[in-house]
Amino acid sequence: MRSLINILDLSVADLDELIATANDIIENPKKYAEACHGKKLATLFYEPSTRTRLSFEAAMLELGGSVLGFSEATSSSAAKGESVADTAKVISGYADIIAMRHPLEGAPYVAARNASIPVINAGDGGHSHPTQTLTDLLTISREKGRLDHLTIGLCGDLKYGRTVHSLIEAMVRYEGVKFVLISPEELELPGYIKHEVLEKHGVAYTQTTELDAAMPELDILYMTRIQRERFPDPTEYERLKDSYILTPEKMERAKPDMAVLHPLPRVNEISVKVDDDPRACYFRQARYGKYIRMALILKLLGEHEQGLDIPEDLSGCFRDTLSCRNPRCITSTEQELTQYFRLVNPQEHVYRCLYCEAKEIFKTTNK
Ligand code: NCD
Repeated sequence: MRSLINILDLSVADLDELIATANDIIENPKKYAEACHGKKLATLFYEPSTRTRLSFEAAMLELGGSVLGFSEATSSSAAKGESVADTAKVISGYADIIAMRHPLEGAPYVAARNASIPVINAGDGGHSHPTQTLTDLLTISREKGRLDHLTIGLCGDLKYGRTVHSLIEAMVRYEGVKFVLISPEELELPGYIKHEVLEKHGVAYTQTTELDAAMPELDILYMTRIQRERFPDPTEYERLKDSYILTPEKMERAKPDMAVLHPLPRVNEISVKVDDDPRACYFRQARYGKYIRMALILKLLGEHEQGLDIPEDLSGCFRDTLSCRNPRCITSTEQELTQYFRLVNPQEHVYRCLYCEAKEIFKTTNK
């Protein structure tokens, strides 16, 4: 493997290996202090971030490497109209590995196709956020001692919350996992994840708008922020922003060992009064993010150095015969990108864009 764009780029064995390395780093940090000596991480962040960017930077520094990059698009040549593809080619000459966050879905995939060094997706639009999922998996395994046989409540903005999408894709691969999807109707989980991920893997799930009623059965409660920046209509955000607030009273209904996770930042969906509850794991979770990113950097750099890059298999793809209609897809703005689609359901003419994974229904006459 060369880049990490989607959590499914990692097998369950890869996940086990990364978690084991992260645990070893936590136990024996000195062992890793020079592991990336002389190596550089470029953090290319076109969208705001605190934890993800700084934990990546801290991770590389603690491995003995160094970091360079930018933290907003306005301070890079993107402001002059440079494409992601060109930026990736240029940075390949300055650094050994890239972590990229971008508001457009599929941007890190474009970077990976054009860079000659590994690229890590640090969040692309509402699409996916695989390193947050690695953080979540390490947290769940440390807090619960296992990743299987868990009932996981996902609460808040399940429509635009990219962390939830990646977490579901990862967790369906473990036995006995059940989901309770808790959201306002307007912010339900996208249909493609329900049908193609949950139902395809035969994973049990229920949907509700009620957090209180769901509490007693949960082993994990994964709270999320309502994603204001992704709402086309700001009044809709105002109406939905306080849909759920976790309070000590609500925590009384939960199992004594339920773990509360949140990718952070929190706005007001968890009262600060919950922070002292031993079941509140979110600040520990943020700390674990650094260790799992250390493990990931080590793995990707190691594989790249050994020439273990796997060339992408584009056979069977439709090339430039269809175009993606998702306005948040990188293909909507970046000039001259080859459009790639895979046919995922021949009976119903359903195709999937390789960049943003949005599904499109094209009759043969459609372009
Ligand atoms: C998340 C993100 O950026 O998607 N934050 C993070 O990386 N820890 C969650 C969020 O912004 O709500």
